[in-house]
Amino acid sequence: MARYRDVYEASVADPERFWLDAAKALDWHTYPTVALDSDRAPLYRWFPDGKLNICHNALDRHVDAGHGDRTALIYDSPVSDTQRTYTYAELRTQVALFAGVLTDLGVRRGDRVVIYMPMVPEAAIAMLATARLGAVHSVVFGGFAPKELAARIDDAEPRVIVSASCGIEGDRIIAYKPLLDQAIEIAEHTPDHCVVLQRPQLRATMTDRDTDWDQAMSITFPAPCVTVKSIEPLYVLYTSGTTGKPKGVVRDGGYAVALAWTMSNVFDIGPGETMFTASDVGWVVGHSYMVYGPLLAGATTVIYEGKPVGTPDAAQFWRVVDNYQVKCLFTAPTALRAIRKQDQHGTRTVEYDLTSLRYLFLAGERLDSNTHRWASELLGIPVIDNWWQTETGWPIAANPAGIELLPIKPGSPTVPMPGWSVHVLDTAGRPEPPGAEGSIAIKLPLPPGSLPTLWQNDERFVESYLSTYDGYYLTGDGGHVDADGYVFITGRTDDVINVAGHRLSTAGMEEVISAHPDVAECAVIGIHDVLKGQIPRGLVVLKEGTARAEQDVEAELIQMVRNQIGAVAYLRDVAIVGALPKTRSGKILRKTMRGIADGTGDPIPPTIDDISVLEALIPVLRRQKGSKQ
Ligand code: COA
Ligand code: AMP
Repeated sequence: MARYRDVYEASVADPERFWLDAAKALDWHTYPTVALDSDRAPLYRWFPDGKLNICHNALDRHVDAGHGDRTALIYDSPVSDTQRTYTYAELRTQVALFAGVLTDLGVRRGDRVVIYMPMVPEAAIAMLATARLGAVHSVVFGGFAPKELAARIDDAEPRVIVSASCGIEGDRIIAYKPLLDQAIEIAEHTPDHCVVLQRPQLRATMTDRDTDWDQAMSITFPAPCVTVKSIEPLYVLYTSGTTGKPKGVVRDGGYAVALAWTMSNVFDIGPGETMFTASDVGWVVGHSYMVYGPLLAGATTVIYEGKPVGTPDAAQFWRVVDNYQVKCLFTAPTALRAIRKQDQHGTRTVEYDLTSLRYLFLAGERLDSNTHRWASELLGIPVIDNWWQTETGWPIAANPAGIELLPIKPGSPTVPMPGWSVHVLDTAGRPEPPGAEGSIAIKLPLPPGSLPTLWQNDERFVESYLSTYDGYYLTGDGGHVDADGYVFITGRTDDVINVAGHRLSTAGMEEVISAHPDVAECAVIGIHDVLKGQIPRGLVVLKEGTARAEQDVEAELIQMVRNQIGAVAYLRDVAIVGALPKTRSGKILRKTMRGIADGTGDPIPPTIDDISVLEALIPVLRRQKGSKQ
């Protein structure tokens, strides 16, 4: 623990020095002389006078240093039967050309580009090209429905949207272009142009607003990197909050510093080594450790278009590890649970050579001890849980494999990473003693790479994260820290749920359900699910006098959530009930219902209005109706 302790202590004793030192790993146009601007505290900005370009650091820097022939990106797509490799020089060329396309379409420094794409290398190319121009990308997960995409378009107001004709979900082709057109129809803001990658599986019908990716690439010229101030926004990534309106998490130049630091110190990945992050470009894990992190490190990244199971089988992750000599695999626990369900004894692993694999990193949701044990025993390598959020951009707590591998305690994502001053507080903001459960808060300032604010909404940033405990960032997670300093996360304290590694808002689903003409009121709660971690369950009270059959309304509500949020919301369980339990002041007791459903034995609050309402719901709450795989 001594080496980690020294590094961690240095980061909290003198954070400014620590991060200025870390910044030396990058090429700066103007190396920052000041680490932290605290003038507008609690809004902090890192490296206020630094200037750089992250795309230069991810690509050009390596090519200029003579490493252009190293492999930068491998695209492996069992669903389209494609494997393609890009060297750093090739990827730089593609990115510079696509930056040329964006320039031709009028994109300039500070403009927004929304990217709504499946898992194809062009998604990463579009991200890097946007960053190359000093413009701001906002990637929207391809599983979101048009209404969700429209909400993000209206908030980000992109000049250009980049998309593809289709995605491939298992053996189904999902036409993306009609979803994009619908979203633009719903949104108030209209982009000037859309660039569409025509995939051979399904060609999209183009309109005057649309530009064909391949055609545009064939007639443009490469664009150089535009130097930007480190405090200018690099991207906006929307995430679910406690209301239906997604929060636009902003990232800036400090992100490059933090990612570069984590690649060697946490993930133990250096130039020429391969990292396989099985996530999606639409999530923060995809941004940080599929696109930017490995490329900043001069390593090789794998973009895998497929599922852990069913495309076509449960051996695909092992095949990818073997094919590309992967050193570090990073995915969500739910993906491993899906594999375990189909190959309980891990017999498929013996078909592949996994000797290159040194670490399995897992994040995105709580890592249950069964999955941890199964993976550890099967692979015989460290299985490293790490805890973080879209907002933080990189792990708050992890096992710093590149510094020293600390003893693993199942159920814990190990210890705080440098810069993260983790505190467990009670409702009054008092520190809890070691081992006691509370709300997890981070003492300000947050380290570089974490969100400096929400997109054009400082007020919401302060209100959502900084106003509960003065001087602290509220993570929204509950848990404890033990006497050895190990962090344990028990789950969200708010209405955010995590379904198969996808972060969703139950409030967003409630908004959709409430709009049904027969619904008087409703509550959506996240309940434990063996495969997906959590799944939503809707409890709905119908308006008096509604003559419709309950099953019809239930089916309509499920379809509405699917159409308006997306299939990933996975709301498949809606029950019509007589009433919802409330406090005397009228607040619906969601946490109490969740406790009953999960059998956690949460106490019933004394402020409950009518206990018989809750008692009547117990059989509905306890019924088992998990996901199927
Ligand atoms: N585009 C369109 N639809 C999508 C989609 C996308 N990008 N991603 C998911 N969907 C759809 C699926 O097709 C499915 O639709 P269906 O209800 O019509 O079958 C629905 O959304 C639910 O998808 P998913 O949650 O992925 O369930 P699944 O049963 O297909 O797969 C897992 C289960 C566990 C294998 C899968 O969820 C998984 O790999 N999760 C890991 C997620 C992850 O990596 N998260 C990042 C954090 S590190
Ligand atoms: P996202 O913003 O999608 O990355 O989701 C962040 C949320 O996922 C966190 O606030 C946690 O609730 C949960 N989460 C992420 N990683 C972990 C982990 N390792 N252990 C427990 N919960 C996690």
